[in-house]
Amino acid sequence: MIEIPARYKTVRAVLLVLAALALLITSGCDWSNDDPGDTKLPSGKPEVQRLNQPPIPPVITRKGNEVFIEMTAQVTQVEISKGVPYEAWTFDGTVPGPVIRVKQGDQLHFTLNNIDPQMPHSMDFHAVHAAPNHKFIGVMPGQEGTFTYTANSPGVFMYHCGTKPVLLHLGNGMYGMIIVEPKDGYPTDQQIDQEYTIVQSEWYKENDYQAFQNAKPRYVVFNGNNYTLTEHPLKANVGDRVRLYVLNAGPNEVSSFHVVGTLMDTVYLDGNPDNVLHGMQTVLLPASGGAVVEFQLTEAGDYTMVSHQFNQASKGAAGLIRVTPDGK
Ligand code: CU
Ligand code: CU
Repeated sequence: MIEIPARYKTVRAVLLVLAALALLITSGCDWSNDDPGDTKLPSGKPEVQRLNQPPIPPVITRKGNEVFIEMTAQVTQVEISKGVPYEAWTFDGTVPGPVIRVKQGDQLHFTLNNIDPQMPHSMDFHAVHAAPNHKFIGVMPGQEGTFTYTANSPGVFMYHCGTKPVLLHLGNGMYGMIIVEPKDGYPTDQQIDQEYTIVQSEWYKENDYQAFQNAKPRYVVFNGNNYTLTEHPLKANVGDRVRLYVLNAGPNEVSSFHVVGTLMDTVYLDGNPDNVLHGMQTVLLPASGGAVVEFQLTEAGDYTMVSHQFNQASKGAAGLIRVTPDGK
């Protein structure tokens, strides 16, 4: 609030009385006119512009171990359940954003183009070591920002918008997976036949910060909605060795990732080959946690993937792997 010196207050009061008298004379006793000098904000919410910006795919080019990544912060309608649209804040027009895949030791030259006309956005790569106040800073509407990082640690990482309040940007869809492949690959000696990526996340009442804070999701989903992975199963042949890169983007829930009908014989927590576990029935993924999980599917049939926190599965955190003799 700006302090007004007392003498101006007096002058202003006199002027206001004169203006009020003038109003009374010219318009009778109509008190509905606001003082044009009144600085209070208009009541009610400002009108929000509905947006559906067409998805702009990422542009990724490589020169030796230098990788140039261009992504777009944009507002795009996505379908979170059958016939349920959501005006999402996105990277590149999808939720989750595109899977980015680089190699350990790569230098990332990352450009964020922000075409959201109303909001600054930013990029926080969990895959890199960087000073957040320099490398994760907000890019204003209509601007672009370029940042350089080295991806030294292998793993399955979350990336997300880090603009405050972060929960608002996460709840509205600004996250995805970045895989940093280990320099010498994963140590498993068996050949991998199929590779897929799964990102678990939550949807709340649209753009409702209080709902995000209350953390009672309407949907908990794999790869952005509650139906695609059950209607269009992932495919594998009998005997295939499958590797899944899984990530729990949250923003609020923990995930208990489980594949019905098999054991995950090899698990690399956070996708780091040093964090190896064997014979896992369920993998616990904290919000922003990832893993590489590997297993063999020895019989034909439908194998369900779920979060074994079954309230989450009942809200959509489920998908299928269809195993057939010929993979069809
Ligand atoms: Cu954002
Ligand atoms: Cu983070």
